[in-house]
Amino acid sequence: MTLEEKIGQMNQISSYGNIEDMGVLIKRGEIGSILNEVDPVRVNALQRVAVEESRLGIPLLIARDVIHGFKTIFPIPLGQAASFNPGIAEEGARISAIEASAAGIRWTFAPMIDIARDPRWGRVAEGCGEDPYLTSVMGVATVRGYQGESLSDPTSIAACPKHFVGYGAAEGGRDYNSTFIPERQLRNVYLPPFEAAAKAGAATYMTSFNDNDGVPSTGNKFILQDVLRGEWGFDGFVVTDWASATEMIAHGFVADAKEAALKSVNAGVDMEMVSYSFVNYLPELIKEGKVKESAINEAVRNILRIKFRLGLFDHPYVRETTEDIFYAEAHLEAAKRAAVESAILLKNEGILPLKESVCTVAVVGPLADAPHEQLGTWIFDGDKNYTQTPLAAIRQLYGDRVEVIYEPGLSYSRDKSTEGISRAVAAAARADVVLAFVGEEAILSGEAHSLADLHLQGAQSQLIEAVAATGKPVVTVVMAGRPLTIGRQVELSAAVLYAFHPGTMGGPALADLIFGKEVPSGKTPITFPKMVGQIPVYYAHHNTGRPASRTETLIDDIPVEAGQTSLGNTSFYLDAGFDPLYPFGYGLSYTTFRYDNIRLSDSELKKNDILTVECDITNTGEYEGTEVVQLYVQDKVGSVTRPVKELKRFTRVNLKPGETRTVVFDLPVEELAFWNIDMVRTVEPGDFGLWVATHSQSGDEFSFKVMD
Ligand code: GLC
Repeated sequence: MTLEEKIGQMNQISSYGNIEDMGVLIKRGEIGSILNEVDPVRVNALQRVAVEESRLGIPLLIARDVIHGFKTIFPIPLGQAASFNPGIAEEGARISAIEASAAGIRWTFAPMIDIARDPRWGRVAEGCGEDPYLTSVMGVATVRGYQGESLSDPTSIAACPKHFVGYGAAEGGRDYNSTFIPERQLRNVYLPPFEAAAKAGAATYMTSFNDNDGVPSTGNKFILQDVLRGEWGFDGFVVTDWASATEMIAHGFVADAKEAALKSVNAGVDMEMVSYSFVNYLPELIKEGKVKESAINEAVRNILRIKFRLGLFDHPYVRETTEDIFYAEAHLEAAKRAAVESAILLKNEGILPLKESVCTVAVVGPLADAPHEQLGTWIFDGDKNYTQTPLAAIRQLYGDRVEVIYEPGLSYSRDKSTEGISRAVAAAARADVVLAFVGEEAILSGEAHSLADLHLQGAQSQLIEAVAATGKPVVTVVMAGRPLTIGRQVELSAAVLYAFHPGTMGGPALADLIFGKEVPSGKTPITFPKMVGQIPVYYAHHNTGRPASRTETLIDDIPVEAGQTSLGNTSFYLDAGFDPLYPFGYGLSYTTFRYDNIRLSDSELKKNDILTVECDITNTGEYEGTEVVQLYVQDKVGSVTRPVKELKRFTRVNLKPGETRTVVFDLPVEELAFWNIDMVRTVEPGDFGLWVATHSQSGDEFSFKVMD
């Protein structure tokens, strides 16, 4: 390979209109990968130039963001995380890969596994929430789904865990903002999901936009070389995020595009997305001895290794027919199942599932029949015409059982006009139950879509107030890309279902949940704050030296002229207390579950032991249902302060009314390891707390010791 041909493999462009123009670049070996080309005929035309007209015939790697579906759209990843079901993530990714590869795509920029504890950040929608263990499990399942049994399978697409690393800690939840994560926190919270994905064989990684402690990830040798390759043995390739190489100029980390290329390659980046500094400056930098050709050779090897593993040299072309693959019945069924399991029942005063006595329902709200919004963020190829909305599904599936009166009240989620609310109120007055579908348009979450206020947009709050004032029971269903501060709407509602953005089949899923054919099982994958001012608020917090007692005097109860120290000095908010609206891991069912006989295999363990924890779970209600049983641990005393709880295991258990099942968790003591005061990952001996619980704020505490 000539130097130019090597550097060409390190260059990715975004497809633009003209095949011939791109063909010129491809023919001279200047392009290794193209993103955003999804027409199989065009893909084959571009590939033919690479394979049959360029000197070396190296095939292109075609890429696309397939974040939660290609044509068949699944719930947003935050919603899928609420299922606490890795099977859902794997199946969704597998189906996405089958559909995307049919269009010629063999690489996607997913899973997004940034730990996010700030719902102001719009990209919280794309990840798995606040917890490293849940994110690791869901991320690994997604990698498996995309990459299948073998990368060489023509339906497999290379995964790309992103954004490496720490992007979700953007200060203030404002996208692209700086992060200040010390190495210990990086290693204990933000890196574990990426390590798990590397161990699972993820083929590529993407650098993140943020500068952490002053170093942009795209120029960060420590994470790209020392950690990713040195510690984890990663042998795939690293791509920048969109122009994140030359954006280091704006960061003030490099002076110009030439230095951007220098710092990116010397930090360990293998491929540059769209900003072209590699092609423009690497030859010069090599001549000047500032970049070694050996670094170029290493990068090209990494890229070609993945192209070989994908089988592109043997099978570079894609079948040009897709009609029997997109929106296949089995795909839609899987998307519906995912939407059912992603929904979280936050409140239910017995109104759900709707009883036979309910004869008339008023369907209101801007999200009741919003096929585009329901799909959520990061949808390029999903067709809203395939979306089945709640209104359509309720009419189709239950229209013979209930009369449906539809009055949206608002035209879209940001609609400030209240002139339609009176019609919604009139519909509510005629109905037995109001089904209010509110939340966010898809555009209000996702990249560059941070919000400083998490209340329902537009006049949605007024809509809920007005229909609730009729005295009819209101079932509020929220479709959103993030937790919203819906405390007032919860107060006004007889039931609340949080569906996130549930995707193509969200309508039938929600209809079946509302009418009882399905039973909710989702759990919050991220803490729901009462107020934006509580953020960051997450369950795995440190205790501080003055933990909240939860008996503090709140602002409305403070006596006038209260003495300076009369309220006690603990860590809480006068106007919000300490607790969130809903903690991590929270979700109700139509039935109830009892936890009995929690038992530990040992009370004293050594570092290479396995702790076995058993618990009898009984369905004590009248509906068959699924409980997500969670195992939390607390390291009571460490060489550094430790979180008050950490999720270490979870499992879904389906039980018929009256049925009891023993859930068994095996927890190797080595999984209690953390990066300690000496920056060594180790299990420190001492006392541990343990909970087997229905959410992160529940359950009785048990204890065990790790012996030296
Ligand atoms: C975007 C996103 C990244 C995406 C890439 C390609 O800016 O940050 O997640 O994969 O560009 O679309």
